[in-house]
Amino acid sequence: MIAITGATGHLGLATIQALTAKIAPSEIVAVVRDPQKAADTLPQGVVVRQGDYNDPASLLAAFQGVETVLLISTSELEYEARMREHKNVIDAARQAGVRHLVYTSVVNPSAESAFGASPGHFATEEYLRASGLTYTILRNTLYLDIIPMLVGEGTLPSGQLYASAGDGKVSYALRAEIGEALANVLAGQGHENQVYDIAPGPAYSFQDIANGLSEVTGQPVAYVPVSGEDIAAGMRQHQVPEPFINLLLGMNQAIKDGEFDAASPAFEQLLGRKPTGLKTYLAGVYGK
Ligand SMILES: NC(=O)c1ccc[n+]([C@@H]2O[C@H](COP(=O)([O-])OP(=O)(O)OC[C@H]3O[C@@H](n4cnc5c(N)ncnc54)[C@H](OP(=O)(O)O)[C@@H]3O)[C@@H](O)[C@H]2O)c1
Repeated sequence: MIAITGATGHLGLATIQALTAKIAPSEIVAVVRDPQKAADTLPQGVVVRQGDYNDPASLLAAFQGVETVLLISTSELEYEARMREHKNVIDAARQAGVRHLVYTSVVNPSAESAFGASPGHFATEEYLRASGLTYTILRNTLYLDIIPMLVGEGTLPSGQLYASAGDGKVSYALRAEIGEALANVLAGQGHENQVYDIAPGPAYSFQDIANGLSEVTGQPVAYVPVSGEDIAAGMRQHQVPEPFINLLLGMNQAIKDGEFDAASPAFEQLLGRKPTGLKTYLAGVYGK
């Protein structure tokens, strides 16, 4: 049995959908906070078990009879809480007799990163390596799917794209295709104690995104580099919650620092084909 945590989230669901093409749904355990939400979204035949990262007993029960666990990193933002949740999943997996754990990390994880999630990924990787479980770590880059959030709603009407990432570049990847790559790892062999950079390259700057938007919409879009303080002030005017402002500013700073400017063949190899690129994504979302 293969257990997928975060199964009612975007990446968990994409992974399960890809996995059902490879193994019987009855071999897949979807570990979910809310079984009702699972009933509405998950493919027929998948085994649903309740499990909360904050409730070790629920995780221990959910992992019974499971050989491999996919730990999808929590959506919690605060470092201590993230670490507690990830440790609970790894500890429960070990106690339940799980053999192998696959973890969704971030590209270039670092204790010093300005990107709020990165220190937790760094520390979780260390904890996993010391756990005694065999592991596979997919160090995911930013999703193409978050570009609309990075770009913001005002960009197309105003023709101006504001960001505080300077000339920093990101090697984006489509979330559904990361799910496919995860499914291939979970159903495949030879991935023990491997670390894969899921960052296919080429990497793109906000100027590149502005150029792409201009091309696919036929409307000129200019990139306007601004400071983090200016972005924060604008978001506060729109009552954006402070944790989200911090997340976005930290992400932009990490982009500026070059943390997402990576290129590895691993993603294409795991997918078995060329990943979707920036232009195709922008045309699909913003094209006329
Ligand atoms: N690379 C990127 O660009 C990027 C962007 C966003 C997030 N991420 C990271 O990648 C992860 C997966 O991305 P995603 O798009 O699938 O995010 P998502 O749709 O927000 O899914 C997160 C999943 O984690 C589950 N979860 C959160 N806290 C939990 C807890 N205490 N116990 C059990 N489950 C819990 C959620 O459960 P519910 O369904 O019950 O809410 C949800 O299923 C995120 O959680 C985050 O760590 C990466």
